[in-house]
Amino acid sequence: MTQTHSADEDFSRRFRNALGMFATGITVVTTRSPSGEPIGLTVNSFNSVSLDPPLIVWSLANSLPSRPLFEACEYYAINVLAEDQAELSQRFASRLDDKFAGLAVDAGAGGVPLLRGVCARFECRNTVRHAGGDHVVFISEVVGFERSDRAPLIYFGGGYRRLAP
Ligand SMILES: Cc1cc2nc3c(=O)[nH]c(=O)nc-3n(C[C@H](O)[C@H](O)[C@H](O)COP(=O)(O)O)c2cc1C
Repeated sequence: MTQTHSADEDFSRRFRNALGMFATGITVVTTRSPSGEPIGLTVNSFNSVSLDPPLIVWSLANSLPSRPLFEACEYYAINVLAEDQAELSQRFASRLDDKFAGLAVDAGAGGVPLLRGVCARFECRNTVRHAGGDHVVFISEVVGFERSDRAPLIYFGGGYRRLAP
């Protein structure tokens, strides 16, 4: 039994290390609770799916307290962080009571909070969700988007990086 357990831990660690070789950007996914409270979390499972119709994908851990709120919301936003926004990534990956304290935001579709100073932001209609093991996979239609020329924050091997010049 002990052997199996440690073998599982080894698998999990090696699997995560292998996944960490896939360099990604970092996003903060934001929405509002039914009572209007802004909520958000750091996500690097974001990717594109389809151009026509415009669809994106990301996954959310089943265990997170914000999961029911994201499943129920009509709209949410994907905010792609810029290279000087590692602090926001840390903040939205934490269990802070008010992750939006002191943050100026704009209002997107359905009033969802849009972060400022980001590389790009996508407003999404929450349409399709699939069970995906210990995560829920969201596939959503993009109803609005913006981009800037800011350089992106990169995540690789469990740490933050910048694009080489
Ligand atoms: C770089 C990075 C990427 C992350 N990507 C995801 C992700 O794709 N899906 C997810 O469910 N959690 C992801 N997390 C973890 C959540 O951000 C973290 O569990 C957060 O505390 C969840 O917010 P909540 O506790 O307010 O629900 C990521 C964390 C970091 C630092």
